[in-house]
Amino acid sequence: MEAILPASDAATAVAAYLQQHETKGLLRFITCGSVDDGKSTLIGRLLHDTRLLFDDQLATLEADSRRHGTQGQDIDFALLVDGLAAEREQGITIDVAYRFFSTEKRKFIVADCPGHEQYTRNMATGASTADLAVVLVDARKGLLTQTRRHSYIVSLLGIRHVLLAVNKMDLVDYDEGVFEAIVDGYRELAAQLGIEHVTCLPLSALRGDNMLQRSDAMPWYRGPTLLEHLETVDVSRKSSELGLRMPVQWVCRPDSSFRGFAGTIVAGEVQAGDEIVALPSGRRSTVARIVTADGDLARARAGQAVTLTLGDELDISRGDVIAAAHNPPQVADQFAVHLLWLGEHALLPGRPYWLKIGARTVGATVTEIKHKVDVNTQEHLAAKHLELNEVAYCNLHLDQAVAFEPYADNRELGAFILIDRQSYATVAAGTLDFALRRAGNIHWQHVDVDKAARARIKHQQPRCLWFTGLSGSGKSTIANLVEKRLLAMGQHTYLLDGDNVRHGLNKDLGFTDEDRVENIRRVAEVARLMVDAGLIVLVSFISPFIAERRMARELFGDGEFVEIFVDAPLEVAEQRDVKGLYAKARAGEIANFTGIDSPYERPAHAEIVLESAAEATEELAARVLRYMSRH
Ligand code: ADX
Repeated sequence: MEAILPASDAATAVAAYLQQHETKGLLRFITCGSVDDGKSTLIGRLLHDTRLLFDDQLATLEADSRRHGTQGQDIDFALLVDGLAAEREQGITIDVAYRFFSTEKRKFIVADCPGHEQYTRNMATGASTADLAVVLVDARKGLLTQTRRHSYIVSLLGIRHVLLAVNKMDLVDYDEGVFEAIVDGYRELAAQLGIEHVTCLPLSALRGDNMLQRSDAMPWYRGPTLLEHLETVDVSRKSSELGLRMPVQWVCRPDSSFRGFAGTIVAGEVQAGDEIVALPSGRRSTVARIVTADGDLARARAGQAVTLTLGDELDISRGDVIAAAHNPPQVADQFAVHLLWLGEHALLPGRPYWLKIGARTVGATVTEIKHKVDVNTQEHLAAKHLELNEVAYCNLHLDQAVAFEPYADNRELGAFILIDRQSYATVAAGTLDFALRRAGNIHWQHVDVDKAARARIKHQQPRCLWFTGLSGSGKSTIANLVEKRLLAMGQHTYLLDGDNVRHGLNKDLGFTDEDRVENIRRVAEVARLMVDAGLIVLVSFISPFIAERRMARELFGDGEFVEIFVDAPLEVAEQRDVKGLYAKARAGEIANFTGIDSPYERPAHAEIVLESAAEATEELAARVLRYMSRH
């Protein structure tokens, strides 16, 4: 029977309860480990035993347990957490599932991260806001590659507390020796990774040993239970010394009289009258008002979403950072970074990606992979590219300077993701280590004679005619004829041909994907210099990848870059086989041959498409010249 309180007492009790929950601390944690280590069972058990399951959820769970369950008539706790039906049938968890629960002492948000190799991405997502990671290990299996990879990500993303849960102790007869051996191995790993706080706990999530109650089966263990640890662990970071940082999410301009900058404060605090600086511009002003939907505030601090108005008319746009003028973050465009590659296709140095940091998106390329890290041994290995799930230390170059802070100081302005420019997929998660010094030391030198002046005395419009297509498609033959015709018309030209440039400037490059990226990067830069010199440049390179042709295009002004796709069917090019290379490739004597075992990505938006098998070279060249005189 429930006690019936007089209404006023009940109201007081409710208020007191709410108050208590309101002021309770919050612990965000993630669970990670390998498939079958029992993560879902652990969380299910926690939710169930802390009695936060709603009755109907419990009823469904009981019914499901009987239907799918692997536990006979008992409840299969994993079913509670493994949300989707498809996952249940496969017995794996494939997305980050966030759960909320609370006890007398604390509120909890737990991100349950999947254990399958290819889902490391989700793990990184869940980890980016967590204070603590529960790393599960199956007592029978010990530390696995997954354990090491996930611990590496945990340290990379700045989580300082790990709870090593050695699960399934019931299956090793609650043997202290087994537990100690795993703990020794893990402490060594944690030391290598610089994880400061490690607590190790033997348990059986399935049977409830050391979950909420101390287990009678393991009298040798004297530490806290899982819940005790989660309820009491101190994860507070030393109070931040950082001043105000607010990435601007949008500029709010309802009418000409009001101009506010909206965003969430990610560090520090602000009050009206404070001096601020807008970054990257470096312009200064003072805070006039702190506006919210519920009226103006006198002050606001980290975590609050506000709109700031300023004393001066500053040109601030989405993605800029408003910061305390007395200790602002740094601004730079080149960095040393840690990178976790999540893309299906390899990371290629020199290829452009989008980078998102705070509220800003800019162009970015990895200029150098310093080393990749073997997650098993922490060994540093040389690498030319990165595959799915590989981690590396790299140099990164942005096409604009951004406000940033080392990740160790500020997770919000120190973490970024890379986005593929074609598919818009997230292909990497990374953290900024420091800005490269040299970045600030190279400036643009002003020159008086410019492209327009150089072009004028040549009486021509400088351009880049970019021929792309398979080997043997006829690019060079057509480009050669176009150049002859232009010369006859008194134009100043230069033809950059793949085979020729590979004898000199690019003779250190082969035909791997990463070498082709560099090959095109260099020739595109050379072509740009030549266009700047006032020339009409013809580039005849296979240039098989959309990403690099796009990069080349973006080096030029409007209308300067003309992409010419010389489209010949592979069979035709192969039949011509002028250099005998297709025959060699078919015989397996040449690897990575375009069209055979290396891809050619057809242009979708070329200015000119020439079907070289259908028309005579004379006519194809004439079409290019007609295009030029028309534009
Ligand atoms: S690109 O792909 O990097 O743009 P590029 O145009 O410089 O290639 O060089 C292509 C030329 O190199 C071809 O015309 C061919 O003569 C020669 N070649 C040698 N090996 C290969 C290969 N594996 N794939 C393509 N072309 C090759």
